[in-house]
Amino acid sequence: MKAVILAGGNGTRLYPVTMTLNKHFLPVYNKPMIYYPLSLVMLLGIKDVLFIVNPGDLENFRSLFKDGSHLGMNIHYRTQEKPNGLAEGLILAEDFIGNDNILYLLGDNIFFGNDLIGLMENAKAEIEMNGGSYVFGYYVKDPHRFGIVEFDEEGNVISIEEKPKKPKSHYAVVGMYFYDNKAVEIAKSVKPSKRGELEITSVNEEYLKRGELKVKLLGRGFAWFDAGTHDSFLEAGEFVSTIENKTGLMIGCIEEIAYNNGWIDKDQLVKLAKPLKKTDYGKYLLELAKS
Ligand code: TTP
Repeated sequence: MKAVILAGGNGTRLYPVTMTLNKHFLPVYNKPMIYYPLSLVMLLGIKDVLFIVNPGDLENFRSLFKDGSHLGMNIHYRTQEKPNGLAEGLILAEDFIGNDNILYLLGDNIFFGNDLIGLMENAKAEIEMNGGSYVFGYYVKDPHRFGIVEFDEEGNVISIEEKPKKPKSHYAVVGMYFYDNKAVEIAKSVKPSKRGELEITSVNEEYLKRGELKVKLLGRGFAWFDAGTHDSFLEAGEFVSTIENKTGLMIGCIEEIAYNNGWIDKDQLVKLAKPLKKTDYGKYLLELAKS
């Protein structure tokens, strides 16, 4: 399985902050927003990642992550000329994906919860064994803002709708999608929606039509933030700060995960930590290297 992380878009809901800055570099507490989705990919043991980025941000992404070898990874980039919608990333990623299955993540979504990685591992195994698609639902107060999934009494999915005026449930599909290789062809067949975007919901709808969409609900023990609005951005930062300061352990620390995965050794970890040594982030990494 390969991972694709969407990190383009206009970020209009974070204006004026994101009029000149790409939101994925904004700090969610002590690290750039984009570290959080990348850390999930790493926790799942996936080394091959493609970032979809705006042309004007390519240089910054490259200077942050380079080719990924300092983390023991292979990091690639593709530019998206315009934010034509979430499904377009699958088309742009076609040659990177090749014949693989796909973990598709939104760069501004942040997840936290007990055994989240276990759930992701199950989704990955399901796709690798049986194909199709596997997504997660999360209860939200404001369903008209999201892709909303409707269930029948037995819990089967019966519909999925993007930003519905009259939502049929409160379950939003979150920005983490597991797809088999067909997703690329499906994305190519999607027609732009009324707002002119290639919607990821249309891809999920096609899987549903084929009887190949699995939805797993994330319960109350999980936190999910779409950090793309002023309030949710602040909430996400406060959440990370609370958890990290309570537990003394970091969320989304990519150097730590690379080290724990055995993708980099102690010397490489220290090298990554040194420029950060004035911060608690750097001190945390140096401490880790001692253990
Ligand atoms: P959104 O938050 O839906 O869009 P946006 O980032 O442009 O923000 P806004 O709605 O405030 O204008 O995007 C979800 C994620 O997907 C986010 O990380 C940006 C990324 N994205 C792309 O990479 N390409 C796209 O065409 C779109 C629409 C989003």
